[in-house]
Amino acid sequence: MNTISIDSDKCRKDEICMEECPFNLLVDGGDGIPTPVEAAGEMCVNCGHCVAICPGDAIAVNGMTAEDCDEVDPAKAVSAEQVEQLFRSRRSVRVYKDEPVERETLERLLDMARWAPTARNKQPVHWLVLTDRDEIAELSRMVASWLREVGRYLPIADAVDKGKDMVNRDAPCLLIAHAGPDALKPVEDCSIALTTIEAAAPAFGLGACWGGLFMAAAQNCEPLRDRLNLPEGHTVYGALMLGRPKFRFRRIPPREAVKVTWR
Ligand SMILES: Cc1cc2nc3c(=O)[nH]c(=O)nc-3n(C[C@H](O)[C@H](O)[C@H](O)COP(=O)(O)O)c2cc1C
Repeated sequence: MNTISIDSDKCRKDEICMEECPFNLLVDGGDGIPTPVEAAGEMCVNCGHCVAICPGDAIAVNGMTAEDCDEVDPAKAVSAEQVEQLFRSRRSVRVYKDEPVERETLERLLDMARWAPTARNKQPVHWLVLTDRDEIAELSRMVASWLREVGRYLPIADAVDKGKDMVNRDAPCLLIAHAGPDALKPVEDCSIALTTIEAAAPAFGLGACWGGLFMAAAQNCEPLRDRLNLPEGHTVYGALMLGRPKFRFRRIPPREAVKVTWR
């Protein structure tokens, strides 16, 4: 049961929270001060928008007040040019320096991904972070043997058998996103969280690559699922290799033109 409370002394009667609430759970109580509708107790997803947007710091949701919300610093906003450069120059990085990724950097990236959007703000994403190269190599071998079993990507399985890790690319870190059965949109939620980390990686001197083969095996290969030992009922929804790029891309390869219909 959610509790939304309004401090009528602080409320400026600007109705911003009423406009902002994603489920229309705040209405004018008659005196210009917002009042939660009856369904608010059930329907509020605790997204904090009403708290974060109120100019008078007048709202609390389940005990979350304005003081619990960090201020946005407009001086730190990035320009459109910087964002364009970030996304156009982002590449899948498959060749890594033989260096570990510091724990502190990983913690910053994972922490940042907590603000990625999730369906109904359920925040269902869990992480398994692997930084032991022997363990990552062992998982690559398990993926290779599964590929052989299902008769797919055999040249990749051959390479792994010969000691060339074409699955996890000898990455010093493998981030695995998983979620439990109560998640509403786990594929989307995990993918967005991983995409957030992938996009942020270059700012931390890191490069990343999606582990599609690893993901497929983690979802379908029983021994690998057992080896990962995730909590009961959890499924792997995405994996990302991470490490310091050995080489720097000098150019941005072209992509197809936007496929768009304007109406
Ligand atoms: C869902 C997904 C799975 C992928 N799986 C793999 C993979 O298993 N191995 C790999 O080397 N690259 C993988 N990639 C990377 C793509 O090959 C890469 O994004 C594409 O070739 C475009 O290159 P770019 O990311 O450098 O622009 C995957 C990408 C996505 C989005």
